Amino acid sequence: MFIENFKVESPNVKYTDNEIQSVYLYETTELVHDNRNGVYQWIVKPKTVKYEFKTDTHVPKLGVLLVGWGGNNGSTLTGGVIANREGISWATKEKVQRANYFGSLTQASSIRVGSFNGEEIYAPFKSLLPMVNPDDVVFGGWDISDMNLADAMARSKVFDIDLQKQLRPYMEHMVPLPGIYDPDFIAANQSTRANNVIKGTKKEQVQQIIKDIREFKEKKKVDKVVVLWTANTERYSNVIEGLNDTMENLLASMEKNEAEISPSTLYGIACVLENVPFINGSPQNTFVPGLIDLAIMRNTLIGGDDFKSGQTKMKSVLVDFLVGAGIKPTSIVSYNHLGNNDGMNLSAPQTFRSKEISKSNVVDDMVASNGILFEPGEHPDHVVVIKYVPYVGDSKRALDEYTSEIFMGGKNTIVLHNTCEDSLLAAPIILDLVLLAELSSRIQLKAEGEVKFHSFHPVATILSYLTKAPLVPAGTPVVNALSKQRAMLENILRACIGLAPENNMILEYK
Ligand code: NAI
Repeated sequence: MFIENFKVESPNVKYTDNEIQSVYLYETTELVHDNRNGVYQWIVKPKTVKYEFKTDTHVPKLGVLLVGWGGNNGSTLTGGVIANREGISWATKEKVQRANYFGSLTQASSIRVGSFNGEEIYAPFKSLLPMVNPDDVVFGGWDISDMNLADAMARSKVFDIDLQKQLRPYMEHMVPLPGIYDPDFIAANQSTRANNVIKGTKKEQVQQIIKDIREFKEKKKVDKVVVLWTANTERYSNVIEGLNDTMENLLASMEKNEAEISPSTLYGIACVLENVPFINGSPQNTFVPGLIDLAIMRNTLIGGDDFKSGQTKMKSVLVDFLVGAGIKPTSIVSYNHLGNNDGMNLSAPQTFRSKEISKSNVVDDMVASNGILFEPGEHPDHVVVIKYVPYVGDSKRALDEYTSEIFMGGKNTIVLHNTCEDSLLAAPIILDLVLLAELSSRIQLKAEGEVKFHSFHPVATILSYLTKAPLVPAGTPVVNALSKQRAMLENILRACIGLAPENNMILEYK
């Protein structure tokens, strides 16, 4: 059975006019490697830590500024949200299609709340805590191309034509602000697009971005802003001692107009200085150590990297399944071909390299978790190929071959072929990223022994379900397995309303 919403009644939860307060017992373990009776052994001690959470229940009017607003993702997301808000439906050759948010974890997935009369009861994910309704989000952003969003939507060739016609009046007056352009960081084939750029030094460019954020906030009367990079993939920037390795060096390099500071890092600096959450949806190393330092210092949320939309999402499910089943993946070969502007930009070796790196580490945690299958340091062969094929447009093809060793030396080969509009996968993920970033900035927590409530660590690992190469603070494990990432997110939100983590034991019926 499906219910729309629910309220928790428990001595551990208090709903006030402005907050939900909860007390939560975190069951975890402590490990020691100790000498017991002359033998070294691992001792595992269960421990319980008491946490308190408080969630501000005031849902703000949210503004979202996209870097790369006029791209396929930016125009698809903007059009998709308008279509939902306006209740638009359109004719396809199969049926009359209504706008929806399929593919969005927050808007289209559910959670189990318990069982009632022998039946499992589910509720929308978004009913866990008060969240911004995507229909109410105000969009804006920057693009190095000055094309209005209606024409950009047509250029991206993602939506059916009947839908485009209905959306056009809402989108033709939306024009991106000039963006920070540096041809050294993206493919040379993008230069014809760059007719809308901020002039001046890097410091002046950062100042302009700050000014744009302030003016947008003022003009659109929004309470909060989140900025998200969905612009072209950049090449990696070199991390150099004295240049971008610390907060002081990074800011000094910006002042000195150093060439190696990328546009995405400049947007990031502007957002952090302005205390606006900044999320990176592309694979490049926007978050150089100096920018991470700066975000930690100013306690501003940063999150990334690279939307986890298709092939990698499957990989973080399939390899988790194989390794979890005691099967040894030995070779993973992934081909992609796509024909959109992202594909054209990725046809340059330096930008492709950023994507290759981001796609490559995704199985590491799963492989490292099973010392029966893999020797220390042993990895499956893992190869990623991306080719630009203009004809297929946004409809990306992903072909994967997984070879594994099974019982008694047997071999098992699984081949997947996925065809899908790339931007229709990415747009709902962008929505989740901004909605969850906003929500997480309203949550405060305190572990037993801590005096004051504090927000989550500014490096937002809570968003990792949505990203290919989750950005984590130094010394934090990277989790790529999709089911673990989803459980982490859901269980933290459950803790905020005093519910135990979903443990799937269903002991009531055993
Ligand atoms: P796109 O090429 O259609 O859009 C990017 C937009 O960014 C373009 O309109 C371009 O003019 C603009 N741009 C480039 N540099 C800029 C700058 N410095 N400032 C402002 N605007 C700038 O690409 P698409 O398909 O929308 O993808 C966007 C990004 O998302 C790419 O980096 C892609 O790799 C990444 N991504 C996409 C996924 C998907 O499923 N669609 C999945 C994972 C990542």
